[in-house]
Amino acid sequence: MDRVLAGRPAKGLVLLGLRGVGKTVLLNRLRGLADDKGFRTVRIEAPEGSSLPELLTPELRRTIYALDLRQAASARLRRAASVLANFARAFKVAAGDLEFSVDLAPGEGDTGNLEQDLPLLLVAMAEAAADRNTAVGLFIDEVQYLSSVELAAVIVACHEIAQRNLPFLFIAAGLPQVAALAGEAKSYAERLFDYPEIGPLETDDARAALVKPAEAEGVTFDGDAAEEILAAAQNFPYFIQEWGFQVWNAAPASPITRDMVRAASPDVVSHLDNNFFRVRFDRLTPLEQKYLRAMAELGPGPCATGRIAETLGVRAASVATVRQRLINKGMVWSQRHGETSFTVPMFDGFMKRQMPELLRHVPQPRSER
Ligand SMILES: Nc1ncnc2c1ncn2[C@@H]1O[C@H](COP(=O)(O)OP(=O)(O)OP(=O)(O)O)[C@@H](O)[C@H]1O
Ligand SMILES: [Mg+2]
Repeated sequence: MDRVLAGRPAKGLVLLGLRGVGKTVLLNRLRGLADDKGFRTVRIEAPEGSSLPELLTPELRRTIYALDLRQAASARLRRAASVLANFARAFKVAAGDLEFSVDLAPGEGDTGNLEQDLPLLLVAMAEAAADRNTAVGLFIDEVQYLSSVELAAVIVACHEIAQRNLPFLFIAAGLPQVAALAGEAKSYAERLFDYPEIGPLETDDARAALVKPAEAEGVTFDGDAAEEILAAAQNFPYFIQEWGFQVWNAAPASPITRDMVRAASPDVVSHLDNNFFRVRFDRLTPLEQKYLRAMAELGPGPCATGRIAETLGVRAASVATVRQRLINKGMVWSQRHGETSFTVPMFDGFMKRQMPELLRHVPQPRSER
Protein backbone atom coordinates (compact mmCIF):
# COMPACT_ATOMS: atom_id res chain seq x y z
CA MET A 1 0.00 0.00 0.00
CA ASP A 2 2.84 2.37 0.80
CA ARG A 3 4.40 1.59 -2.56
CA VAL A 4 1.16 2.45 -4.34
CA LEU A 5 0.82 5.72 -2.41
CA ALA A 6 4.44 6.56 -3.27
CA GLY A 7 3.69 6.04 -6.95
CA ARG A 8 5.68 2.82 -7.24
CA PRO A 9 4.40 -0.30 -8.97
CA ALA A 10 2.83 -2.96 -6.73
CA LYS A 11 1.16 -6.24 -7.53
CA GLY A 12 -2.46 -6.83 -6.67
CA LEU A 13 -3.50 -9.62 -4.32
CA VAL A 14 -6.01 -12.38 -4.83
CA LEU A 15 -6.64 -14.22 -1.55
CA LEU A 16 -7.57 -17.83 -2.28
CA GLY A 17 -9.09 -20.33 0.09
CA LEU A 18 -11.90 -22.67 0.96
CA ARG A 19 -15.19 -21.66 2.58
CA GLY A 20 -14.93 -20.27 6.10
CA VAL A 21 -11.15 -19.82 6.29
CA GLY A 22 -11.32 -16.07 6.90
CA LYS A 23 -10.95 -14.50 3.45
CA THR A 24 -13.71 -11.94 3.98
CA VAL A 25 -12.42 -11.04 7.43
CA LEU A 26 -8.95 -10.54 5.96
CA LEU A 27 -10.21 -8.56 2.98
CA ASN A 28 -12.15 -6.21 5.27
CA ARG A 29 -9.10 -5.80 7.49
CA LEU A 30 -6.96 -4.90 4.48
CA ARG A 31 -9.57 -2.42 3.35
CA GLY A 32 -9.56 -0.84 6.80
CA LEU A 33 -5.77 -0.52 6.56
CA ALA A 34 -6.07 1.11 3.15
CA ASP A 35 -8.69 3.55 4.47
CA ASP A 36 -6.39 4.45 7.37
CA LYS A 37 -3.58 5.13 4.93
CA GLY A 38 -5.74 7.52 2.95
CA PHE A 39 -6.81 5.34 0.03
CA ARG A 40 -10.26 5.93 -1.43
CA THR A 41 -11.63 2.42 -1.27
CA VAL A 42 -14.40 0.61 -3.06
CA ARG A 43 -15.59 -2.78 -1.84
CA ILE A 44 -18.04 -5.01 -3.62
CA GLU A 45 -19.11 -8.60 -3.33
CA ALA A 46 -19.73 -10.33 -6.63
CA PRO A 47 -22.97 -12.24 -6.13
CA GLU A 48 -24.08 -14.96 -8.48
CA GLY A 49 -26.13 -13.56 -11.29
CA SER A 50 -25.68 -9.81 -10.84
CA SER A 51 -23.66 -7.60 -13.14
CA LEU A 52 -20.37 -5.93 -12.30
CA PRO A 53 -21.32 -2.51 -13.77
CA GLU A 54 -24.43 -2.52 -11.61
CA LEU A 55 -22.44 -3.09 -8.44
CA LEU A 56 -19.52 -0.88 -9.31
CA THR A 57 -21.26 2.25 -10.59
CA PRO A 58 -22.77 3.53 -7.31
CA GLU A 59 -19.54 2.76 -5.47
CA LEU A 60 -17.41 4.64 -7.99
CA ARG A 61 -19.80 7.55 -7.86
CA ARG A 62 -19.31 7.68 -4.11
CA THR A 63 -15.55 7.58 -4.66
CA ILE A 64 -15.69 10.49 -7.08
CA TYR A 65 -17.46 12.56 -4.43
CA ALA A 66 -14.92 11.44 -1.83
CA LEU A 67 -12.13 12.60 -4.15
CA ASP A 68 -13.73 15.99 -4.55
CA LEU A 69 -12.83 16.98 -0.98
CA ARG A 70 -14.81 20.18 -1.41
CA GLN A 71 -12.17 21.59 -3.71
CA ALA A 72 -12.92 22.80 -7.16
CA ALA A 73 -13.22 19.65 -9.23
CA SER A 74 -10.08 19.21 -11.32
CA ALA A 75 -10.18 18.47 -15.02
CA ARG A 76 -9.29 14.85 -14.32
CA LEU A 77 -11.99 14.45 -11.74
CA ARG A 78 -14.53 15.90 -14.11
CA ARG A 79 -13.31 13.53 -16.76
CA ALA A 80 -13.67 10.52 -14.43
CA ALA A 81 -17.20 11.62 -13.59
CA SER A 82 -18.05 11.91 -17.27
CA VAL A 83 -16.63 8.52 -18.16
CA LEU A 84 -18.65 7.05 -15.29
CA ALA A 85 -21.81 8.69 -16.62
CA ASN A 86 -21.14 7.25 -20.09
CA PHE A 87 -20.34 3.85 -18.62
CA ALA A 88 -23.56 3.81 -16.62
CA ARG A 89 -25.56 4.70 -19.69
CA ALA A 90 -23.87 2.02 -21.83
CA PHE A 91 -24.57 -0.70 -19.25
CA LYS A 92 -28.04 0.63 -18.43
CA VAL A 93 -27.45 1.26 -14.75
CA ALA A 94 -28.57 4.29 -12.82
CA ALA A 95 -25.62 6.50 -11.90
CA GLY A 96 -27.56 9.33 -10.30
CA ASP A 97 -26.56 12.92 -10.88
CA LEU A 98 -22.91 13.69 -11.23
CA GLU A 99 -22.68 17.40 -10.86
CA PHE A 100 -19.12 17.71 -12.14
CA SER A 101 -19.60 15.75 -15.29
CA VAL A 102 -18.73 17.36 -18.59
CA ASP A 103 -19.94 16.27 -21.96
CA LEU A 104 -17.52 13.83 -23.46
CA ALA A 105 -17.11 12.77 -27.02
CA PRO A 106 -19.02 9.55 -27.61
CA GLY A 107 -16.83 6.48 -27.27
CA GLU A 108 -15.32 7.39 -23.90
CA GLY A 109 -16.37 4.35 -21.93
CA ASP A 110 -19.68 3.83 -23.69
CA THR A 111 -18.98 1.15 -26.31
CA GLY A 112 -20.91 -1.42 -24.28
CA ASN A 113 -17.88 -3.71 -24.48
CA LEU A 114 -16.84 -4.18 -20.86
CA GLU A 115 -13.27 -5.11 -21.73
CA GLN A 116 -12.82 -1.70 -23.32
CA ASP A 117 -15.02 0.43 -21.10
CA LEU A 118 -14.02 -0.78 -17.65
CA PRO A 119 -10.27 -0.18 -18.15
CA LEU A 120 -11.00 3.30 -19.48
CA LEU A 121 -13.17 4.05 -16.47
CA LEU A 122 -10.75 2.71 -13.87
CA VAL A 123 -7.80 4.46 -15.53
CA ALA A 124 -9.76 7.74 -15.38
CA MET A 125 -10.54 7.11 -11.70
CA ALA A 126 -6.91 6.37 -10.88
CA GLU A 127 -5.80 9.50 -12.75
CA ALA A 128 -8.25 11.57 -10.73
CA ALA A 129 -6.88 10.01 -7.53
CA ALA A 130 -3.31 10.80 -8.61
CA ASP A 131 -4.39 14.38 -9.12
CA ARG A 132 -5.53 14.47 -5.49
CA ASN A 133 -2.33 12.81 -4.26
CA THR A 134 -4.20 9.75 -3.16
CA ALA A 135 -4.93 6.27 -4.51
CA VAL A 136 -7.92 4.09 -5.29
CA GLY A 137 -8.29 0.67 -3.69
CA LEU A 138 -10.68 -1.80 -5.32
CA PHE A 139 -11.70 -4.75 -3.11
CA ILE A 140 -13.78 -7.57 -4.60
CA ASP A 141 -15.05 -10.47 -2.50
CA GLU A 142 -16.38 -13.77 -3.95
CA VAL A 143 -14.46 -12.94 -7.11
CA GLN A 144 -15.13 -16.43 -8.54
CA TYR A 145 -18.70 -15.32 -9.25
CA LEU A 146 -17.61 -12.70 -11.79
CA SER A 147 -18.45 -13.84 -15.31
CA SER A 148 -15.48 -14.61 -17.53
CA VAL A 149 -16.05 -11.36 -19.43
CA GLU A 150 -16.13 -9.36 -16.18
CA LEU A 151 -13.03 -11.06 -14.83
CA ALA A 152 -11.19 -10.40 -18.08
CA ALA A 153 -12.25 -6.73 -17.98
CA VAL A 154 -10.96 -6.34 -14.40
CA ILE A 155 -7.64 -7.95 -15.34
CA VAL A 156 -7.21 -5.77 -18.43
CA ALA A 157 -7.99 -2.70 -16.31
CA CYS A 158 -5.37 -3.66 -13.71
CA HIS A 159 -2.88 -4.26 -16.51
CA GLU A 160 -3.45 -0.88 -18.14
CA ILE A 161 -3.29 0.91 -14.80
CA ALA A 162 -0.03 -0.87 -13.94
CA GLN A 163 1.50 0.10 -17.26
CA ARG A 164 0.64 3.74 -16.62
CA ASN A 165 2.00 3.46 -13.08
CA LEU A 166 -1.13 4.97 -11.57
CA PRO A 167 -1.97 4.83 -7.84
CA PHE A 168 -4.40 1.91 -7.78
CA LEU A 169 -4.54 -1.22 -5.67
CA PHE A 170 -6.57 -4.32 -6.45
CA ILE A 171 -7.31 -6.87 -3.73
CA ALA A 172 -9.75 -9.71 -4.23
CA ALA A 173 -10.79 -12.86 -2.39
CA GLY A 174 -12.38 -16.02 -3.66
CA LEU A 175 -12.42 -19.77 -3.98
CA PRO A 176 -9.23 -21.42 -5.18
CA GLN A 177 -10.40 -21.98 -8.75
CA VAL A 178 -10.05 -18.23 -9.35
CA ALA A 179 -6.34 -18.57 -10.10
CA ALA A 180 -7.10 -20.87 -13.04
CA LEU A 181 -10.05 -18.73 -14.19
CA ALA A 182 -7.86 -15.61 -14.18
CA GLY A 183 -5.12 -17.39 -16.12
CA GLU A 184 -7.64 -18.55 -18.71
CA ALA A 185 -9.08 -15.05 -19.02
CA LYS A 186 -5.70 -13.38 -19.57
CA SER A 187 -2.38 -15.17 -19.50
CA TYR A 188 -0.60 -12.16 -17.96
CA ALA A 189 -2.89 -12.32 -14.89
CA GLU A 190 -0.26 -14.59 -13.37
CA ARG A 191 2.31 -11.77 -13.33
CA LEU A 192 -0.13 -9.06 -12.33
CA PHE A 193 -1.25 -10.52 -9.00
CA ASP A 194 0.06 -12.54 -6.09
CA TYR A 195 -2.22 -15.34 -4.96
CA PRO A 196 -1.70 -15.91 -1.24
CA GLU A 197 -3.31 -19.12 -0.07
CA ILE A 198 -5.52 -18.74 3.00
CA GLY A 199 -5.88 -22.03 4.85
CA PRO A 200 -6.78 -23.29 8.32
CA LEU A 201 -5.04 -21.47 11.19
CA GLU A 202 -1.71 -22.61 12.62
CA THR A 203 -2.35 -24.52 15.85
CA ASP A 204 -1.05 -21.72 18.11
CA ASP A 205 -3.20 -19.14 16.33
CA ALA A 206 -6.21 -21.42 16.44
CA ARG A 207 -5.76 -21.90 20.18
CA ALA A 208 -5.36 -18.15 20.69
CA ALA A 209 -8.55 -17.46 18.69
CA LEU A 210 -10.42 -19.72 21.11
CA VAL A 211 -8.72 -19.14 24.45
CA LYS A 212 -7.97 -15.41 24.42
CA PRO A 213 -11.47 -14.02 23.98
CA ALA A 214 -12.65 -16.41 26.74
CA GLU A 215 -9.79 -15.31 29.00
CA ALA A 216 -10.84 -11.71 28.56
CA GLU A 217 -14.19 -12.73 30.08
CA GLY A 218 -12.52 -14.58 32.95
CA VAL A 219 -13.14 -18.08 31.54
CA THR A 220 -10.42 -20.68 31.07
CA PHE A 221 -10.14 -24.06 29.36
CA ASP A 222 -9.10 -27.04 31.44
CA GLY A 223 -6.43 -29.52 30.31
CA ASP A 224 -7.20 -30.81 26.82
CA ALA A 225 -10.56 -29.04 26.44
CA ALA A 226 -9.22 -26.50 23.92
CA GLU A 227 -7.38 -29.22 22.00
CA GLU A 228 -10.60 -31.22 21.79
CA ILE A 229 -12.31 -28.28 20.07
CA LEU A 230 -9.37 -27.59 17.74
CA ALA A 231 -9.28 -31.24 16.67
CA ALA A 232 -13.02 -31.26 15.96
CA ALA A 233 -12.81 -27.92 14.11
CA GLN A 234 -9.62 -28.94 12.26
CA ASN A 235 -8.33 -25.40 12.91
CA PHE A 236 -10.83 -23.88 10.45
CA PRO A 237 -11.76 -20.39 11.74
CA TYR A 238 -15.47 -20.70 11.13
CA PHE A 239 -15.73 -24.06 12.88
CA ILE A 240 -13.66 -22.79 15.81
CA GLN A 241 -16.11 -19.97 16.18
CA GLU A 242 -19.14 -22.29 16.10
CA TRP A 243 -17.63 -24.76 18.56
CA GLY A 244 -16.55 -21.93 20.84
CA PHE A 245 -20.00 -20.37 20.73
CA GLN A 246 -21.94 -23.56 21.47
CA VAL A 247 -19.53 -24.87 24.11
CA TRP A 248 -19.56 -21.47 25.82
CA ASN A 249 -23.34 -21.55 26.03
CA ALA A 250 -23.49 -25.17 27.18
CA ALA A 251 -20.76 -24.97 29.85
CA PRO A 252 -22.23 -24.44 33.33
CA ALA A 253 -19.10 -22.83 34.78
CA SER A 254 -15.42 -22.02 34.24
CA PRO A 255 -13.12 -23.81 33.64
CA ILE A 256 -14.49 -25.47 30.53
CA THR A 257 -13.60 -29.16 30.62
CA ARG A 258 -13.08 -31.77 27.95
CA ASP A 259 -16.26 -33.54 29.04
CA MET A 260 -18.27 -30.34 28.54
CA VAL A 261 -16.84 -30.07 25.03
CA ARG A 262 -17.71 -33.68 24.29
CA ALA A 263 -21.21 -33.22 25.62
CA ALA A 264 -21.78 -30.14 23.43
CA SER A 265 -20.25 -31.54 20.23
CA PRO A 266 -23.35 -33.36 18.88
CA ASP A 267 -25.29 -30.09 19.16
CA VAL A 268 -22.55 -28.21 17.34
CA VAL A 269 -22.59 -30.75 14.53
CA SER A 270 -26.36 -30.65 14.18
CA HIS A 271 -26.31 -26.85 14.27
CA LEU A 272 -23.72 -26.79 11.46
CA ASP A 273 -25.71 -29.40 9.53
CA ASN A 274 -28.93 -27.41 9.80
CA ASN A 275 -27.36 -24.08 8.91
CA PHE A 276 -23.88 -23.74 7.43
CA PHE A 277 -23.97 -26.97 5.38
CA ARG A 278 -27.68 -27.09 4.80
CA VAL A 279 -28.02 -23.73 2.99
CA ARG A 280 -25.46 -24.93 0.49
CA PHE A 281 -27.08 -28.33 0.05
CA ASP A 282 -30.52 -26.81 -0.55
CA ARG A 283 -29.27 -24.86 -3.58
CA LEU A 284 -28.44 -28.07 -5.42
CA THR A 285 -30.47 -30.22 -7.77
CA PRO A 286 -31.01 -33.88 -6.81
CA LEU A 287 -28.40 -34.96 -9.34
CA GLU A 288 -25.86 -32.49 -7.99
CA GLN A 289 -26.55 -33.79 -4.49
CA LYS A 290 -26.02 -37.35 -5.68
CA TYR A 291 -22.70 -36.36 -7.24
CA LEU A 292 -21.47 -34.83 -3.98
CA ARG A 293 -22.68 -37.90 -2.08
CA ALA A 294 -20.55 -40.08 -4.35
CA MET A 295 -17.57 -37.78 -3.70
CA ALA A 296 -18.16 -38.10 0.04
CA GLU A 297 -17.92 -41.87 -0.30
CA LEU A 298 -14.30 -41.31 -1.40
CA GLY A 299 -13.44 -39.23 1.71
CA PRO A 300 -12.54 -35.57 2.24
CA GLY A 301 -10.72 -35.45 -1.11
CA PRO A 302 -9.24 -34.48 -3.44
CA CYS A 303 -10.98 -37.24 -5.43
CA ALA A 304 -9.99 -38.60 -8.82
CA THR A 305 -12.81 -37.34 -11.04
CA GLY A 306 -13.03 -40.72 -12.78
CA ARG A 307 -13.52 -42.50 -9.46
CA ILE A 308 -16.52 -40.30 -8.64
CA ALA A 309 -18.21 -41.34 -11.86
CA GLU A 310 -17.29 -44.95 -11.14
CA THR A 311 -18.87 -44.66 -7.70
CA LEU A 312 -22.03 -43.35 -9.36
CA GLY A 313 -21.85 -46.27 -11.77
CA VAL A 314 -21.47 -44.17 -14.92
CA ARG A 315 -18.78 -42.95 -17.32
CA ALA A 316 -17.12 -39.62 -16.47
CA ALA A 317 -18.44 -37.97 -19.64
CA SER A 318 -22.05 -38.52 -18.64
CA VAL A 319 -21.66 -36.49 -15.43
CA ALA A 320 -19.25 -33.84 -16.77
CA THR A 321 -21.97 -31.20 -16.98
CA VAL A 322 -23.11 -31.87 -13.40
CA ARG A 323 -19.54 -31.43 -12.24
CA GLN A 324 -19.25 -28.16 -14.18
CA ARG A 325 -22.44 -26.83 -12.61
CA LEU A 326 -21.08 -27.67 -9.17
CA ILE A 327 -17.92 -25.71 -10.02
CA ASN A 328 -20.02 -22.73 -11.18
CA LYS A 329 -21.99 -22.84 -7.94
CA GLY A 330 -18.74 -22.78 -5.98
CA MET A 331 -19.28 -26.22 -4.41
CA VAL A 332 -16.30 -28.05 -5.88
CA TRP A 333 -13.08 -27.08 -7.60
CA SER A 334 -10.22 -28.72 -9.37
CA GLN A 335 -6.74 -28.40 -7.95
CA ARG A 336 -5.16 -30.50 -10.67
CA HIS A 337 -6.42 -31.90 -13.91
CA GLY A 338 -8.51 -35.00 -13.24
CA GLU A 339 -9.15 -34.13 -9.61
CA THR A 340 -12.21 -32.76 -7.84
CA SER A 341 -12.34 -31.35 -4.29
CA PHE A 342 -14.98 -29.86 -2.03
CA THR A 343 -14.74 -26.09 -1.46
CA VAL A 344 -16.48 -26.45 1.90
CA PRO A 345 -14.33 -28.06 4.60
CA MET A 346 -15.83 -31.24 6.12
CA PHE A 347 -18.61 -31.38 3.54
CA ASP A 348 -17.97 -35.09 3.04
CA GLY A 349 -19.10 -35.87 6.58
CA PHE A 350 -22.20 -33.74 6.16
CA MET A 351 -23.16 -35.45 2.88
CA LYS A 352 -22.97 -38.84 4.56
CA ARG A 353 -25.15 -37.68 7.44
CA GLN A 354 -27.59 -35.99 5.09
CA MET A 355 -27.82 -38.84 2.58
CA PRO A 356 -26.85 -42.01 4.42
CA GLU A 357 -27.43 -44.12 1.34
CA LEU A 358 -25.21 -43.98 -1.72
CA LEU A 359 -27.36 -43.97 -4.86
CA ARG A 360 -26.20 -45.04 -8.27
CA HIS A 361 -26.93 -42.76 -11.16
CA VAL A 362 -28.98 -44.01 -14.09
CA PRO A 363 -28.55 -41.45 -16.86
CA GLN A 364 -31.61 -40.73 -18.93
CA PRO A 365 -31.58 -39.29 -22.40
CA ARG A 366 -31.58 -35.49 -22.10
CA SER A 367 -31.58 -35.90 -18.34
CA GLU A 368 -32.00 -33.15 -15.77
CA ARG A 369 -31.02 -29.67 -16.88
N1 LIG B 1 -7.97 -15.08 11.86
C1 LIG B 1 -9.12 -15.42 12.44
N2 LIG B 1 -9.16 -15.73 13.74
C2 LIG B 1 -10.31 -16.09 14.33
N3 LIG B 1 -11.50 -16.18 13.71
C3 LIG B 1 -11.53 -15.89 12.43
C4 LIG B 1 -10.35 -15.51 11.71
N4 LIG B 1 -10.67 -15.33 10.42
C5 LIG B 1 -11.99 -15.59 10.35
N5 LIG B 1 -12.52 -15.92 11.53
C6 LIG B 1 -13.92 -16.29 11.77
O1 LIG B 1 -14.27 -17.32 10.84
C7 LIG B 1 -15.50 -17.06 10.20
C8 LIG B 1 -15.37 -17.19 8.72
O2 LIG B 1 -14.58 -16.14 8.18
P1 LIG B 1 -14.89 -15.49 6.76
O3 LIG B 1 -16.32 -15.20 6.62
O4 LIG B 1 -13.91 -14.41 6.57
O5 LIG B 1 -14.53 -16.73 5.81
P2 LIG B 1 -14.46 -16.77 4.23
O6 LIG B 1 -13.17 -17.39 3.87
O7 LIG B 1 -14.78 -15.44 3.66
O8 LIG B 1 -15.63 -17.80 3.89
P3 LIG B 1 -16.57 -17.89 2.59
O9 LIG B 1 -15.74 -18.51 1.50
O10 LIG B 1 -17.70 -18.80 3.01
O11 LIG B 1 -17.03 -16.51 2.26
C9 LIG B 1 -15.94 -15.68 10.63
O12 LIG B 1 -17.12 -15.83 11.37
C10 LIG B 1 -14.82 -15.11 11.46
O13 LIG B 1 -15.30 -14.52 12.63
MG1 LIG C 1 -16.28 -14.73 2.49
